[in-house]
Amino acid sequence: MSDIAISVSDGVQLLRLTRPAKKNALTADMYAALAAALEAGDADDDIAVHVFLGSEGVFTAGNDIADFMAAVENGRLDAQVFVFMRALVGSRKPIVAGVDGLAVGIGTTMLMHCDLAYASETAQFRTPFLDLGLIPEAGSSLLMPPQLGHVRAFELLCLGAPFDAEQALAAGLINRVLPAAELEGATLEAARAVAAKPRHALFTARQLLKGDRQALFERIEEEARIFEDCLKSPEAREAFQAFLEKRAPDFARARREAAQA
Ligand code: COA
Repeated sequence: MSDIAISVSDGVQLLRLTRPAKKNALTADMYAALAAALEAGDADDDIAVHVFLGSEGVFTAGNDIADFMAAVENGRLDAQVFVFMRALVGSRKPIVAGVDGLAVGIGTTMLMHCDLAYASETAQFRTPFLDLGLIPEAGSSLLMPPQLGHVRAFELLCLGAPFDAEQALAAGLINRVLPAAELEGATLEAARAVAAKPRHALFTARQLLKGDRQALFERIEEEARIFEDCLKSPEAREAFQAFLEKRAPDFARARREAAQA
């Protein structure tokens, strides 16, 4: 069971995150299922658009922290997260997202790769990478500063400050803010409108707007190397352990213990 529900209608492939008991936190299996669906959808002439939605009032709580902890033990993160990022960035077809509730970590950074994004009034965007001893990923360190301006990118990506839907709109992360009850309908309606466009012109125009993605792929690789190094730090281990044990992290103790080891 991958905790992803996939359905297709009217040229729209809907990818719904369905792990609400864990706030739709993304596991390696979920990344793999999403990447496979993006790639299969890109190759399928019946599909013109991919759509991401969450479930039960949550978009996603980001990467599963138990998987981060496993990465600390294994010395590296499961490759599926990077397979997903490459599929997302490399997608040939437009991507639309509808964010209700929390969009944490990759739940926020993935929006930089979407073509249209809508959010409910209660949506909240957070990237607590530094609080976990980690660095921004998914190319956000390259794309966000020019899009948001350095100070807002720093506030979001480095300070981990939550952005509400209006701030996300002002920052250019999303197109519109809607009442929660209207979010899914509006997201799917927008996706169907995109899917109704002449396909060759649609895919070609999008390719022109996206431009050359080589630098973006290279930045994702660079971020991934640094991210994996950070995963091995005493602070990161302490942050994950503290989350799993439902307590506040004690970074100073973690550093002291690491220095004594
Ligand atoms: N990874 C693994 N499990 C997660 C998770 C994550 N990223 N986010 C939430 N969960 C789990 C919780 O451990 C809890 O599981 P349990 O019921 O078995 O104890 C369940 O989902 C509900 O989460 P809870 O923390 O009780 O809900 P909340 O509404 O109080 O808080 C969040 C929701 C998302 C704010 C909080 O869970 C959180 O901060 N999660 C971590 C987010 C994060 O740092 N992601 C990584 C970004 S790089």
